[in-house]
Amino acid sequence: MEKIKIGLLGMGTVGSGVWNILKNNKDEIFRNCGYEMEIAKILVKDLDKKRNIDAPASLYTDDFNEVLNDDEIKIVVEVMGGIEPAKDYILKSMDKKKHVVSANKALIASHGKELFERAESNKVMFLYEASVAGGIPILSTIKESLSGNKIEEVMGIVNGTTNYILTKMTKDKVDFHNVLKEAQDKGYAELDPTADVEAYDAAHKLAILGFLSFGINIDLSSIYREGITKITPVDIEYAKELGYAIKLLAIGKEQDGEIEMRVHPTFIPLDHPLASVGDAFNAVFLKGNAVGDLMFYGKGAGDMPTGSAVVGDIIDIIKNRGNIFYPSNSRKKKIVKSMEETTCKYYIRIVVKDKPGVLGKIASEFGKSQVSLSSVIQKGRKTPTVSLVFITHKSKEGNVKNAIDNILSIEQVVEIANLIRVENGVDE
Ligand code: NAP
Ligand code: HSE
Repeated sequence: MEKIKIGLLGMGTVGSGVWNILKNNKDEIFRNCGYEMEIAKILVKDLDKKRNIDAPASLYTDDFNEVLNDDEIKIVVEVMGGIEPAKDYILKSMDKKKHVVSANKALIASHGKELFERAESNKVMFLYEASVAGGIPILSTIKESLSGNKIEEVMGIVNGTTNYILTKMTKDKVDFHNVLKEAQDKGYAELDPTADVEAYDAAHKLAILGFLSFGINIDLSSIYREGITKITPVDIEYAKELGYAIKLLAIGKEQDGEIEMRVHPTFIPLDHPLASVGDAFNAVFLKGNAVGDLMFYGKGAGDMPTGSAVVGDIIDIIKNRGNIFYPSNSRKKKIVKSMEETTCKYYIRIVVKDKPGVLGKIASEFGKSQVSLSSVIQKGRKTPTVSLVFITHKSKEGNVKNAIDNILSIEQVVEIANLIRVENGVDE
C-alpha cells in the first residue's frame, strides 16, 4: 500500500493536532481517501524542546532542506507561523512540485497573490482552510458549495482569543489583561497576542474571506481595524442594559461594486445568534443572493479543531479536488469604501462635568453634523463627572467623527470614553 508522505513544518499547537488526528483517525482517513499517510519529517526551531507528543526523535529536524530535498514528500504542511521563513519554505516547496497546506492567515492575507501565482505556475495545490475560523469549513464552502452565489455579506466572530476574553469580561466583570493569560495557556492566542487583541488576526481572516467572497485582491491597508483593548467592564454593563452584547466582528459587505471591509468591537442585540457565541467559539454569517442567510458555528482555535481543517485539506489534495481558486478574478470593477463613507449606528459614551446645559450642547453638535440620536442615558449624580451615553440612528462615519471633534471642544466635556459601532444583523 502506497503511503502519502508529508513534511510537517512546525510541531506546536496546530502541528500536534495534525499529528494526533493522523494517528488516531487512521481508519477514517483511509476510508475517505484510500491512502495511508505518514509524517516523514517534522521541522522545528528547537530540537531540544520537551514535547508532549509521541513522535519518534528521528523524525525531527531543524534543517528545512531535509524536507525540501526528500522527493518522497509530496505534501508540505506549514504550521509554523510568521512571514519569513514560512513564505520562503512554501515557495521553495511549490517549486519542487510539492503541494502545500497552510494555516498561516497572516502570510496568506499579506502575500496570498504571490503564493497563488507560484502554485499556479508549478501546477500544485495550495489549500488554507485552517487559516480562517479554525475547524469551521467556511472557505471550502464559499469556494465550492456557494460558488453559484454572489456573496453580498459575510460577518463573523473569527478570533477565538478575543471572543474568550470578551466572554470572560462579560461573565466575571474582569479587565481584559487578567483573561489574556488564560487564552494563551489554552493555545488560542498568537505568539504575539497583540495580533489577537488589536484585531490584526481578525483583519487577516477578513481579507481571506473577502477575496474569496468578493473576487478581488484585498489590500490589508484597506481594512478598517480596531481591537478590544479599549473595551471596559463599564461599556459591557451599558451594552447589557441596552439589550446588546459586545463582540469583535469582522464585517465584509458588497453593494453595487462598493465593498465594506471592517473589523471592530460591535454591539449586537442579545437575541442575535452571534451574541450567544461564547468562549473561543467562532461563527460566520453569510448572505448569498441565491442561498439567502447561512450561519456556521464551531471551534475557531486550538490543536484539534485547527488540525481537523488541515487534515481535511491534505485529504482534498490526495483526492485531487483541492481546486485552485485565484481570487483577483472579478470581471467587475469593485472598490473598497473608505471608513468615512460607511454608515452605522453608534454607541458613544462621553464623560462630562455635570453642569446644566451640557446635554443640549452635545445634542446640538450631533445635529449640526447630520447625526440623528436614537436614545440618551445619563447615570450618576452627586459626582463631579458623569457618563452620557448616546445611541445614534444610522449615520455616516465621517459625520460622526466630525461631531465628535466639535463635541471635544465643549468646555464641560472631559473625554469621549468610547465609541462602538452597532449592528442589528445581516439584513441591516
Ligand atoms: P506554535 O504553537 O507557536 O508552533 C509553531 C511551531 O513552528 C513550533 O513547533 C516551532 O518550533 C516551529 N517554528 C516556528 N518558527 C520556526 C522556524 N523558523 N524554523 C523551524 N520551526 C519553526 O504555533 P501554532 O499556534 O501551532 O500556530 C501555527 C500556525 O497556525 C500560525 O500561522 C497560526 O496563526 C496558525 N493557526 C493557529 C491556530 C491555533 O489555534 N493555535 C489556529 C488557526 C491557525 P519549536 O517548537 O521548536 O519552537
Ligand atoms: N489566535 C487565533 C484565534 C488562532 O484566537 O482565533 C486561530 O486562528
